[in-house]
Amino acid sequence: MCGIFGYCNYLVEKSRGDVIDTLVEGLQRLEYRGYDSTGIAIDGDEPDSTVIYKQIGKVSALQKEITAQDPNRDVTFVSHCGIAHTRWATHGEPKQINCHPQRSDRQHDFVIVHNGIITNFRELKQLLLNKGYTFESDTDTECIAKLFKHLYDTNLKNGTELDFHELTKLVLLELEGSYGLLCRSSHYPNEVIATRNGSPLLIGVKSERKLRVDFVDVEFPDDEILPDIPLNSTRQETRNLLPIAANESALRRSQSRAFLSEDGAPNPVEFFVSSDAASVVKHTKKVLFLEDDDIAHIYDGEIHIHRSRREVGAPATRSIQTLEMELAQIMKGPYTHFMQKEIFEQPESTLNTMRGRIDFEQNSVMLGGLKSWLPVIRRARRLIMIACGTSYHSCLATRAIFEELSEIPVSVELASDFLDRKTPVFRDDVCIFVSQSGETADVMLALKYCIERGALTVGIVNSVGSSISRVTHCGVHINAGPEIGVASTKAYTSQYIALVMFALSLSEDRVSMIERRKEIIQGLKDIPGHIKEVLTMEPRIKELCDNELKDQRSLLLLGRGYQFASALEGALKIKEISYMHSEGVLAGELKHGVLALVDEDLPIIAFGTRDSLFPKVVSSIEQVLTRKGRPIVICNKNDDVWSSKATNDKLLTLEVPLTVDCLQGLLNIIPLQLTSYWLAVNKGIDVDFPRNLAKSVTVE
Ligand code: F6R
Repeated sequence: MCGIFGYCNYLVEKSRGDVIDTLVEGLQRLEYRGYDSTGIAIDGDEPDSTVIYKQIGKVSALQKEITAQDPNRDVTFVSHCGIAHTRWATHGEPKQINCHPQRSDRQHDFVIVHNGIITNFRELKQLLLNKGYTFESDTDTECIAKLFKHLYDTNLKNGTELDFHELTKLVLLELEGSYGLLCRSSHYPNEVIATRNGSPLLIGVKSERKLRVDFVDVEFPDDEILPDIPLNSTRQETRNLLPIAANESALRRSQSRAFLSEDGAPNPVEFFVSSDAASVVKHTKKVLFLEDDDIAHIYDGEIHIHRSRREVGAPATRSIQTLEMELAQIMKGPYTHFMQKEIFEQPESTLNTMRGRIDFEQNSVMLGGLKSWLPVIRRARRLIMIACGTSYHSCLATRAIFEELSEIPVSVELASDFLDRKTPVFRDDVCIFVSQSGETADVMLALKYCIERGALTVGIVNSVGSSISRVTHCGVHINAGPEIGVASTKAYTSQYIALVMFALSLSEDRVSMIERRKEIIQGLKDIPGHIKEVLTMEPRIKELCDNELKDQRSLLLLGRGYQFASALEGALKIKEISYMHSEGVLAGELKHGVLALVDEDLPIIAFGTRDSLFPKVVSSIEQVLTRKGRPIVICNKNDDVWSSKATNDKLLTLEVPLTVDCLQGLLNIIPLQLTSYWLAVNKGIDVDFPRNLAKSVTVE
């Protein structure tokens, strides 16, 4: 979806060039969220004026546009607020006029960047049209900017000059749908509103000084958790809690205010508002995650958090947390694409998922986030796994081992379909939500649906601090590290392992499972090394992509049992990155229709690794050979069945190490990840930015 970024400096002298560079760099790190068009809004040359730069295409195109406009980069600002956006179009095709920031009017009274969809925008637009407003874009966002202006002007006419956050509350009352948005206004210079409902938003806080606050001494940047900020805090209260202070007597709305800390010294501070911590970590690791319905009002070097509506039971404080992410984790390093880097990170990322959680000597598993909930989960009447896309495939891949180890019925649901069917959910169900981003709208909606019905909810999430990790009752972070490539790779293998560990935790008290558990735990120990070995197949896979698979229009993937998920996930990777039609088929279904597609031309990749279904898979592949098909078989190393067929029937093999049946999918998927990558590279596709897709899908 879209990425939004804001940068505010207070008493930190920055040139306009610095501000532009900070915003543009922030966007570059968010580009994976959408790359149809980009834009920024910053102070213009006239007092309280705004200048907007926007461009269709990626951030590099915006950079060129800004250079062409030749702004005076040397003007310095002691305090300044800029906002920025990278778009994945939902309403209005990607064209110049639809790029964000969207504005209320030509004077830029209110300027907005928005991630999400305003579902009642047609009604709002009609209302504003009736009031004489004219619209220049096809976006839903323009309504928000115009609504700000309309409500501001109306209140002013009635003699009320509202505070920025009060005005925002009025605007939000009118909005339906999802949003993460930033607003800046010429009526409120050097102030920014950041608010969210259903779309992620966080604020990075950077202060160079050792600062003193009333209740505790807080030192940046070494402390772990700063004091909580109460909601609806007054300026004085906030000053007491956040290590940020302002001179109360300073004149608001003046460029030259001096913000002072309590000891009287100047108190420089910078804020970085973003859809994702990846764009903030370069500047600061201190972040505050906003909750739905929060309105963060940033001004005078302070943050004030208000609520757009009162809710019983809503958390009353927000903490500033320390990110564990390192900048190096979100850089490409020696790799050409993030996807390639993330594929090759899997020996390490899978190890990180297990680190500190499995005792390979004792054959035991300890998942801290689930430990106290396990007795409740074991009593569940049913486990429902809910996810989308690749995360859904990780659920399919582990469903059988969950059922085997827990002896509880497990259903696996696509979040959108689960909601469409209004699936019955009961208090004694346990619902497991699997999501890399932790922000996927369909999954979030399904989560709220299950909570309303009293089910226990478990999150299996990669992004720390994400909505799903906060809203679920308990859960496991998969610890794969930031995944930037739009095609999910390392998150899949880490989700898979986290789910296997979850299933193992559920069976720790079962004597009948001791041997099976031991086998799986010892199998997990070898997985990182095995993945490393499979990755050495890259040249062979590249060769297949250069020859057998080159210029093919379609590809069939056959799998059965544990490998059905591998077939579906492999097909998804290939279609989303290389744009080649590919279909994952359950091998048992071949004879029920799909066989009609098989001829000597259609490329087929079949999963023929050893497990209890091996004879059936061999039989399916024989049916393909009989129809003159020439499958490429992913099989275990030195498997005689396949080596003899390779000679007699001219079938090709890709050999992977043998592991425990329920873990084999972790190795089998790697050749497919590499295949999709090289097919795409060969076609000249920008792998990290496949058309029409975005990394985090925060709209329904
Ligand atoms: C495919 C892919 C998507 C996501 C899906 C769910 O490579 O990345 O199919 O898996 O959009 O996203 P998360 O896991 O963030 O909920």
